[in-house]
Formats: sequence, structure tokens, C-alpha cells
Amino acid sequence: MKIAISGKGGVGKTTVAANLVHAFAARGHYVYAVDADPDVSLGAVLGFSAADLAALRPVIELQELIAERTGGEGVFFTLNPKVNDLIDGYSLQCGKIRFLRMGAVKQGGSSCYCRENSFLYAVLGNLLLERDDIVVMDMSAGIEHLTRGTARGVDLMIIVTEPTRVSVQTAQIVRKLAADLGINRAQFLVNKVRTGRELEFILARLPADELLGIMPFDEDILDSAMADQHELPDRKILPGLGEISEKIMAGII
Ligand SMILES: Nc1ncnc2c1ncn2[C@@H]1O[C@H](COP(=O)(O)OP(=O)(O)OP(=O)(O)O)[C@@H](O)[C@H]1O
Ligand SMILES: [Mg+2]
Repeated sequence: MKIAISGKGGVGKTTVAANLVHAFAARGHYVYAVDADPDVSLGAVLGFSAADLAALRPVIELQELIAERTGGEGVFFTLNPKVNDLIDGYSLQCGKIRFLRMGAVKQGGSSCYCRENSFLYAVLGNLLLERDDIVVMDMSAGIEHLTRGTARGVDLMIIVTEPTRVSVQTAQIVRKLAADLGINRAQFLVNKVRTGRELEFILARLPADELLGIMPFDEDILDSAMADQHELPDRKILPGLGEISEKIMAGII
């Protein structure tokens, strides 16, 4: 099961990703937690220490390995470097959770970036297409880490939105981007709902059969976001997400 999580800035993508990762791990599954948002925070919200995270380099910056695995400095290099061992060697592990950072896709169309980007896509291709483990990928609203090829591996795109006009608009744009890449299974997850009016607002705008769930604004989550470090064990799973993770594994979603 491969899950990509997207949506407008600040809606709760990382919170949802981290909670799903913990929910799957708590149910005995091995999970790859992938930070594909340049604004990195998934590792910290998952509970890894600041020191471990500081030492973990993003895949896009593994220059020597990129050169080695993509065939040296020459013009012709293989687009399918062997990345299996690399994924295990360059990730952090805690219990059943493995965490890795992708880093930003290099923009600008310069051919200099071709090697780095193709390496990044190869790592994502390996995770999404060649592994049986669960993958939960925290993305930005732009879903440029996915290509037509690797999007085939995404079983479910969760688009998080708050009950606001701009956030719903972004969610719909992401839905379109996902469909253009060939991802058919996309569901909206509404987060931080406080009032009945907000609920009505959402229900009037998003089709019921594309609604994965509705999560309330939760003071405890804000409290934990203010804490110095999140603890890995004994964490509270966001109300509703444990159930959603079970449905996903049961193939109901
Ligand atoms: N249901 C909720 N109730 C209360 N606070 C929440 C809830 N979900 C998320 N938050 C808080 O909202 C803030 C933004 O959440 P989060 O970092 O998960 O969003 P994001 O979409 O990943 O943001 P970014 O686009 O910056 O990566 C955090 O402080 C988080 O603790
Ligand atoms: Mg985030």
C-alpha cells in the first residue's frame, strides 16, 4: 500500500502522515515514511531526535552516490541505478518505521540537475513500485516528486484540506494534478473542523464518495506541536485516523 499525502500549506499534511505511519506501525506493519516536502518536518513530528535528523542527508544531495550509481561523470548514465541497499543505508529506523528525506526536485531545466533528479526518481520508483511495504509520503501541494511512471505505484492520494475556500481550491487543483498523472484513487481528508457551519461548508463542496474523513480541530495536537520533542512510543493517534488506517489495509478505501 503506497499513500501520498498532499494539500495546501499548513492544512495538516505532516500531522496526518505521521499519525498514519504510527497507526500502521502500531498494527504491526513495516512502514516507510518519506518526507518529500522541501519544508521538512515529518521526521521531527514522527519523533526522531534533532541530532539524528541533522545527520540524515536528503537523497537528492547524495552526490557521490549519484555519480557512482548513475555511471560516473560521463554524459551517458543509466536511469535505473541500483538503489535497494541505499534506501536502507540512508534512512533512520525506529521499530517498524523507516524514515527518509527526499529533498527538493531541482528546478530550472538545466541539464546539470538531470542526474540528481533522475536519481531521486529512481529511489522513489524503487519505493513505490518494487517494495511490498507500506509507504506514506508527505508531499507539498505541488506533487513534482511524482512522475507518470512512479505515480502508477500510488494506491491512494490523500488530499488534506481545511474548511476554507482557498484550501479547498488548492485541494481541487491537486486532485486535477493527480488525475493528470494517472492517479485515480484520490480522497479528500478534511482537517481542523471546529463548527457545524464549517462542516456544512465542506459537505457542500466536496463529493461524499471522495471524502475519506473529517477530523476535528484538536487542542492536544497543538499542545504536542509546541512540545520540545515528540515521543515515539505511546503516542495518541488523531481521532479517526486509526480507523482510516484499518480501512485502508482492509482494502475498503
Ligand atoms: N486536527 C488538528 N487540530 C489542531 N491542530 C492541528 C490539527 N492538525 C494539524 N494541526 C496543527 O496545524 C499545524 C500545521 O500542521 P502540519 O505541519 O501537519 O501541516 P502541513 O500541511 O504539513 O504544513 P506545511 O505545508 O507547512 O508542511 C501544526 O502546528 C499542527 O500541529
Ligand atoms: Mg508539512
